[in-house]
Amino acid sequence: MKILVTGGTGFIGSHTVVELISAGHEVEILDNLSNSKESVLDAISKLTGVSPKFYKADILDKARLTEIFSGTKYDVVIHFAGLKAVAESVEQPLKYYENNVEGTINLLNAMLNTGVDNIIFSSSATVYGDPGVTAYTEDLPTGQNITSPYGKTKYMIEEILKDIAMSKPEFSATILRYFNPVGAHPSGFIGEDPNGRPNNLMPIIMKVAQGEYPELSIYGDDYPTSDGTCIRDYIHVVDLAKGHLAALQHIKPGISVYNLGSGKGTSVLEMVAAFEKASGKKLPYKIVGRRTGDLPEMHAIPEKAFRELGWKTELTIDDAMRDTINYLRALA
Ligand SMILES: NC(=O)c1ccc[n+]([C@@H]2O[C@H](COP(=O)([O-])OP(=O)(O)OC[C@H]3O[C@@H](n4cnc5c(N)ncnc54)[C@H](O)[C@@H]3O)[C@@H](O)[C@H]2O)c1
Repeated sequence: MKILVTGGTGFIGSHTVVELISAGHEVEILDNLSNSKESVLDAISKLTGVSPKFYKADILDKARLTEIFSGTKYDVVIHFAGLKAVAESVEQPLKYYENNVEGTINLLNAMLNTGVDNIIFSSSATVYGDPGVTAYTEDLPTGQNITSPYGKTKYMIEEILKDIAMSKPEFSATILRYFNPVGAHPSGFIGEDPNGRPNNLMPIIMKVAQGEYPELSIYGDDYPTSDGTCIRDYIHVVDLAKGHLAALQHIKPGISVYNLGSGKGTSVLEMVAAFEKASGKKLPYKIVGRRTGDLPEMHAIPEKAFRELGWKTELTIDDAMRDTINYLRALA
């Protein structure tokens, strides 16, 4: 299939591009490089032997989108482009609504104007807000008690996709709700290398390991969990990338929603221990106060993806730690 991948030089996008090319798909990448580097394209070429066509473009630039979509007839768009820093979205909500929601509307207009009916969208477990349970199935209500503008942009985009599907029977949107992506490609060529100050646990652990930050701050050890720290469902980015390939093989008209997670919860202290085991080094950390909006515990029930897409995770937290450390060595 001929696929446009927006955000294809980013963390999850780049790993997905590698899987798509390896499976024989023809891929083009659109990214404004606001949170990624052009050198990722060389890494993709080294890994796959293919140099995908690259548009350095912004989804806020309607004229550029029209130009790109009028040049090629895509079968599918896989849409990763978006801003994802939760704390920044609280400080600068309009930046997030503009980039994520308006950007997606522009993209959808460009698609529909050129007869492209299929989209796979990067959503997030944050759309569930605070559902009052720890194990998440796709049929839980969404949109209630979402604490950040970032999470709300994902919810709003899901609603927009549902409305388009109501108006246009041939439209197909596959909504993939990711849990917590971690790890790197086992080659060490690509991984998570965000510009600016990261918010998520793994990139912060990486900065501590690199000596850039003195220690990891753990937000609260008095939650009602096994060791008092928050529990999340971490998924290796290569497994996540393969989830997109599985979704691509099962595109059908209408809205399809899948949780992509491992189904297993891991606490922050367990993540620290796994990193220490893989690196053979102590990871300095301190316990600080709880962070507003953090839920004690959540994990995916990923059974729908297994049943309908034949997809499940194969890699472990230990694999993710090994590959992250390998990637850090390659970066150094
Ligand atoms: N990493 C996570 O924890 C996580 C969890 C759930 C959902 N997601 C979603 O998955 C997607 C990919 O996440 P990621 O971790 O790879 O993030 P990332 O920041 O590494 O990748 C996003 C890419 O989009 C590009 N981009 C941003 N705004 C753009 C714009 N206006 N025009 C063109 N390109 C633009 C960035 O330069 C970057 O390369 C995002 O939509 C994110 O919200 C991520």
